[in-house]
Amino acid sequence: MGEFENHPRILVTGGAGFIGSHTVIALVEAGYEPVIVDDLRNSRAKVLSGLERILGRTVEFHNIDCGDGAAMSSIFDRPVHGAIHFAADKAVGESVADPEKYFSNNIGATSNLTRILKDHKVPHLVFSSSCTVYGDTEILPVNEGAPIQPAASPYGYTKQACEQLLQYSHAASEGQLGITLLRYFNPIGAHPSAEIGELPLGTPANLVPFLTQSVAGIRPALTVFGEDYPTPDGTCIRDYLHVCDLAEAHVAALQWLEAHPGAMDIFNLGTGEGSSVKEVITAFEAATGRSVPHRMGARRAGDVTAIYADASKAERMLGWRTRRSLQECLADAWRWQEKLARGNQ
Ligand code: NAD
Ligand code: WQD
Repeated sequence: MGEFENHPRILVTGGAGFIGSHTVIALVEAGYEPVIVDDLRNSRAKVLSGLERILGRTVEFHNIDCGDGAAMSSIFDRPVHGAIHFAADKAVGESVADPEKYFSNNIGATSNLTRILKDHKVPHLVFSSSCTVYGDTEILPVNEGAPIQPAASPYGYTKQACEQLLQYSHAASEGQLGITLLRYFNPIGAHPSAEIGELPLGTPANLVPFLTQSVAGIRPALTVFGEDYPTPDGTCIRDYLHVCDLAEAHVAALQWLEAHPGAMDIFNLGTGEGSSVKEVITAFEAATGRSVPHRMGARRAGDVTAIYADASKAERMLGWRTRRSLQECLADAWRWQEKLARGNQ
């Protein structure tokens, strides 16, 4: 550890995953010492080598369940300054088929982890929530004051339940534990080095990994889920943000907690702009010069017509906004896909 031993240690649960691994880089760049806690249930150990190549150093890593108090105890031999809790299961469709898995890991691990943090008097917690808590909102762009709608899936319910749990935990801690709830919109892209990126296991459910795999010839043509929505081109609208922009927001949230000890607040994290599925395809083609094989298909059950963020609160209070364009996101996603296809990531 050497030169980093006096940097504030930040637990990064799920730090080997897609958003967590990019956040590890942002933390190091900001002068923190990340400590990854990830049992690799949805990631691979080679992410750690990618991080090492980018950072030129190793990162402390614990292959354990973040909800397992006994396993976690050794981490607290040295002071822990804060925690960013990414670890969760995140596949909406799987959550419908196996709700118990989602209640147990997403809510159970969050509950256990929060108790562990309190027991060790850790002052700062940043939590990964999701725009899914807004459900099918008619308020666009949606801001943090919009009502929480009944969840459309067990996954969505677990994010709502964790937000609620953390509000109670915050109140009970009487100012000892500061918490930010970060509601991500649609993170895409990869680190520009192509050393780390998204590693979907099996057939991707999300648009961009499916799109890049279609272009790479690993999947059949992309099916656009519905072109009869009441949007300008008939396809659904989402707010796609670069995972490196999202990673930087976690540093900003941590610094906000440091400046406001014991506080609690909620922030949307998105670009503030909506893009349709057809616009994503066009932007990909413009960014990479590759054409996207695609066909129009039926609507996917559970999709909302349009959602994009009012992210002005994060800009005002955290001093954070996205800096990377949609084309940059898609160029980086494609560079990562090409690296994966060569098998040398
Ligand atoms: P991911 O699956 O790539 O990363 C999650 C990581 O957590 C994985 O490496 C997995 O192995 C690990 N993990 C899961 N449960 C664990 C446990 N109990 N103990 C230790 N490790 C565990 O997912 P991601 O896309 O990086 O998402 C991170 C967080 O952001 C999740 O909470 C997710 O719900 C939330 N989120 C993601 C998106 C998105 O589109 N990717 C959008 C909104 C919110
Ligand atoms: C984006 C758009 C699809 C695949 C999900 C979760 C949400 C959050 C982010 C975690 C939609 C269309 C997709 C395809 C398509 N995750 N699409 N063909 O559904 O907005 O959000 O990830 O919290 O909770 O629900 O993302 O990437 O699946 O879809 O046309 O093969 O792309 O219909 O309009 P979504 P997505």
